[in-house]
Amino acid sequence: MRMVDLIEKKRNGHELNKAEIDFIIEGYTKGDLPDYQLSAFAMAIYFQGMTQEERVNLTQAMVESGDQIDLSKIEGIKVDKHSTGGVGDTTTLVLGPLVAAVDVPVAKMSGRGLGHTGGTIDKLEAVPGFHVEITNEEFIRLVNTNKIAVIGQSGDLTPADKKLYALRDVTATVDSIPLIASSIMSKKIAAGADAICLDVKTGNGAFMKKLEDAEELAKAMVEIGKGVGRNTKAIISDMSQPLGFAVGNALEVKEAIDTLKGEGPEDLTELCLTLGSHMVVLAEKASSLDEARAMLQEVIKNGKALESFKTFLSAQGGDASVADDPSKLPDAAHKIEVPAKEDGYISEIVAEKIGVAAMKLGAGRATKESEIDLAVGIMLNKKVGDSVKKGDSLVTIHSNSEDVQEVMDIVYDSYSTVAEKVEAPTLIYKEIH
Ligand code: URA
Ligand code: CA
Repeated sequence: MRMVDLIEKKRNGHELNKAEIDFIIEGYTKGDLPDYQLSAFAMAIYFQGMTQEERVNLTQAMVESGDQIDLSKIEGIKVDKHSTGGVGDTTTLVLGPLVAAVDVPVAKMSGRGLGHTGGTIDKLEAVPGFHVEITNEEFIRLVNTNKIAVIGQSGDLTPADKKLYALRDVTATVDSIPLIASSIMSKKIAAGADAICLDVKTGNGAFMKKLEDAEELAKAMVEIGKGVGRNTKAIISDMSQPLGFAVGNALEVKEAIDTLKGEGPEDLTELCLTLGSHMVVLAEKASSLDEARAMLQEVIKNGKALESFKTFLSAQGGDASVADDPSKLPDAAHKIEVPAKEDGYISEIVAEKIGVAAMKLGAGRATKESEIDLAVGIMLNKKVGDSVKKGDSLVTIHSNSEDVQEVMDIVYDSYSTVAEKVEAPTLIYKEIH
């Protein structure tokens, strides 16, 4: 086989077979095929697309390019959740203990964050003592006994995707539905999930700004999941503003605790119940979404969801008493209000800009080497649809430095205010089965 012929075949709109796709992905992973040929190949896909069979074969080839996690020693159906990217996305912190409380095994391999706020591990490390340095055996034992554990990333998962994603980033080929869908799905599948629940974001703060595009991506991923024998469902949810109120590591842990107690922000709570219901059904612990939702609401009410969070924290060295007394979490020295400059209604809060503001405070990493400040971040006091009077606080900045002028400017830039009344945005647009 010659790579040049395969590029030409794709360029001319023909379908590649499994052997051809394997040849490309294996060759690229090993370094036998150069970046320039893969660049041309990615561009050919960008223009010609891929059939369902090609997408499945590409995903499978990327899964097989590196290590695959074996979760077979964990009892039950392992359901993983993936969000296509939000700012201050506290859902994982809530969903893990929430679904574990109704016996759905949560075996989460997580990373540290880059940009915006931290990743799930960074957030959890805001709990004094909590750590993810556990052995694979310990990880499996904890999931079997407590139904939930989080471990740091180990092994070499989907090296083909790492290489290809970096190449796409510099060759204007990131925004191709078949390439995005296979990239995301290959990582979930290699991480060992039996079933996958996807939260595809749409709106100004999302990767997929338009609903039609988000829907196409969601369908593509659901089809790939089914094509490789992993039951997959997707919802499409709003990202025209950050979810919940908290953006920042300790602040989000506090928000997760509130939500597990049934006292969290309305949008975060609803999204967690929706995604959680799908996870419970995918794990075959309930036969309908309504039944699953009732189970989740029950464990929030009777305290089992919060109890599950505490058990999980203690098992990994964390001080579980933060759940009863969140004042034990890291706290910033300064709380600075950002006053509204005019009367009106909030029409938009660009999530990405709020994420950048939180990063400037130190809540996220500008580079892989940066240190994170777990205490700092932003609490939103006004959300889209809220009325506002001049002087009202839009957000509270939690900072360890007194000079927050730059952060304030970014906050002002992210908020839009209009004179006429605005409805709160729809939270969940669609569910894709
Ligand atoms: N996120 C991914 O993991 N892959 C893509 O291709 C795009 C977004
Ligand atoms: Ca949040």
